[in-house]
Amino acid sequence: MYIDKLKLKGKTAVITGGSRGIGREIALAFAEMGANVVVAGRKLPDLERAAEDIAAAGGTGLAVAAHAGKTGDLENLVQATVDRFGTIDILVNNAAVNPVFGPIESIDEALFSKMMDVNVKGYLMLARMAMPHMEKAGGGSIINIASVEGFKPSYGTGLYSVTKAAVVMLTKVLALEWAAKKIRVNCIAPGLVRTHFSEFLWKNEEILKLYLEHCPIKRIGQPYEIAGLALFLASELAGYTTGSVFTADGGYLI
Ligand SMILES: NC(=O)c1ccc[n+]([C@@H]2O[C@H](COP(=O)([O-])OP(=O)(O)OC[C@H]3O[C@@H](n4cnc5c(N)ncnc54)[C@H](OP(=O)(O)O)[C@@H]3O)[C@@H](O)[C@H]2O)c1
Repeated sequence: MYIDKLKLKGKTAVITGGSRGIGREIALAFAEMGANVVVAGRKLPDLERAAEDIAAAGGTGLAVAAHAGKTGDLENLVQATVDRFGTIDILVNNAAVNPVFGPIESIDEALFSKMMDVNVKGYLMLARMAMPHMEKAGGGSIINIASVEGFKPSYGTGLYSVTKAAVVMLTKVLALEWAAKKIRVNCIAPGLVRTHFSEFLWKNEEILKLYLEHCPIKRIGQPYEIAGLALFLASELAGYTTGSVFTADGGYLI
């Protein structure tokens, strides 16, 4: 009975940053539950490989190249999804960038705009574009990927922390405003997870040691340990859950 409520057969999910790391793992989890999964990112060949993996896992995959910070690309992503599958039931705003490491005073205006465009504005724009389709279909689930950095900053990644704190509040605002439309909006805040994105952190012995000192579970996470939460939030089992932020961080924020 519980397994039936986890199933996503007939549901269509859009996942930004679905070609690798956490986004790809979420795509595979949704696929295993029978969903149609649209993966978006900048590089089409990587997305096409992910779409093949989605099909092999039991779902139907569609690859759409889209830059998460470009509104025109996001409009095209929504249109391509609706053209192929008819609607959007689940949106995972996952793609984010962190192109600098250093003190906040060294970040120039152009970089500030780029990070805000992808990590914050893109999340809002795509949610807004998906909303009418979800409303028409009778409801939906939006999952925003933030970070523990949205709660507790680290030296060197200050602006990234600012963007992730914004994602946490965006989640709550959307959850409040769209509950009447039966659209649930939740957030996952991962700790350090083994992906390409965070390689510069977990491959640096000094930084890894510092992280593990504050991490009671004493290891970094794996993408599937984030995907499981996303699957719950996308499913009927999370029907009473909205505006919530779930950490998956080995206890780092304790
Ligand atoms: N890994 C961690 O330790 C960790 C911790 C906390 C939070 N997070 C969050 O988890 C999410 C996923 O991170 P990850 O670790 O899985 O990263 P990842 O393995 O590097 O994957 C990033 C994905 O995003 C896509 N992407 C990057 N820039 C994009 C853009 N401008 N437009 C569209 N797609 C873009 C990439 O594809 P293309 O390069 O082809 O565009 C790729 O599919 C991010 O929101 C990140 O902030 C990660």
